[in-house]
Amino acid sequence: MTHFLDIHRTDPADLRRILDCGRAMKDGRAGRPRGAPDDAQPLAGAMVALIFEKPSTRTRVSFDVGARQMGGQTMVLSGADMQLGHGETIADTARVLSRYVDLIMIRTFEEATLLEMADYAEVPVINGLTNRSHPCQIMADVMTYEEHRGPIKGRKAVWSGDGNNVFASFAHAAKQLDFDLVFTGPEPLDPDPAVRDWITIERDPLKAVEGADLVVTDTWVSMHDPQSAKERRHNQLRGYQVNARLMERAKPDALFMHCLPAHREDEVTSEIMDGPHSVIWDEAENRLHAQKAIMRHCLGV
Ligand code: CP
Ligand code: NVA
Repeated sequence: MTHFLDIHRTDPADLRRILDCGRAMKDGRAGRPRGAPDDAQPLAGAMVALIFEKPSTRTRVSFDVGARQMGGQTMVLSGADMQLGHGETIADTARVLSRYVDLIMIRTFEEATLLEMADYAEVPVINGLTNRSHPCQIMADVMTYEEHRGPIKGRKAVWSGDGNNVFASFAHAAKQLDFDLVFTGPEPLDPDPAVRDWITIERDPLKAVEGADLVVTDTWVSMHDPQSAKERRHNQLRGYQVNARLMERAKPDALFMHCLPAHREDEVTSEIMDGPHSVIWDEAENRLHAQKAIMRHCLGV
């Protein structure tokens, strides 16, 4: 069974095939209405369950639209409305869903929930974000970088802000696809120790972005963080805002990315989000294409 649980658990050659497939499918649809089917229908007859235990706009819509473009059918399930949210075990849920659907995408809190779902499901499981990682996002980010600037291998990416789940997947990608990743942020918000070997830490944000090909940030307070942490985090992270002063230290043709949703004027200024370095709308669009390729990879179609 081919799950897509994390970038560092996926072979680099498979990651490259997924990226190439996403690119080819994007090119193949150029100019078509979003609702028009793809020429090829590799998901014809397939049923895809999309489970959300946290809010989502991009992941929900892009998986749903992507599966349908490839001929699949989808059902979007809220974790709270399922028995899963009322005491049924993850293992039992996985076994039952496997009798109805061909593919499961889940966005959840604990990584253990995702892994248990994958252990007990008899169909492939895709990680649609956990507290610990967000691999689908970073596949779209790499695709976006390469579509604008060519191979990411050997390039310098800099993350400014919280060392969170999205950062962890960036670190997994840096290891697997061989690019440099610098984290700049306050020590209390350092990344997961499990990814430290694959990154460099530089506390001074201005030094960190020197010569960067790509600058990335994300919200200062993630969905799994307590809202009570908000004020403290804002104080800790204020100096790591991506703004014109920071961006001008990067290479003149550096790209700016953000997985979205953004909090304008907190982690990034509108000047940068809407400015010439920013590729955030292509990045959001590429969720669709990259995830279509991930679904095909999982189903072997
Ligand atoms: N970037 C991302 O995963 O967005 P959603 O939370 O809207 O799915
Ligand atoms: N780090 C954010 C990403 C949202 C797509 C969160 O987990 O809330």
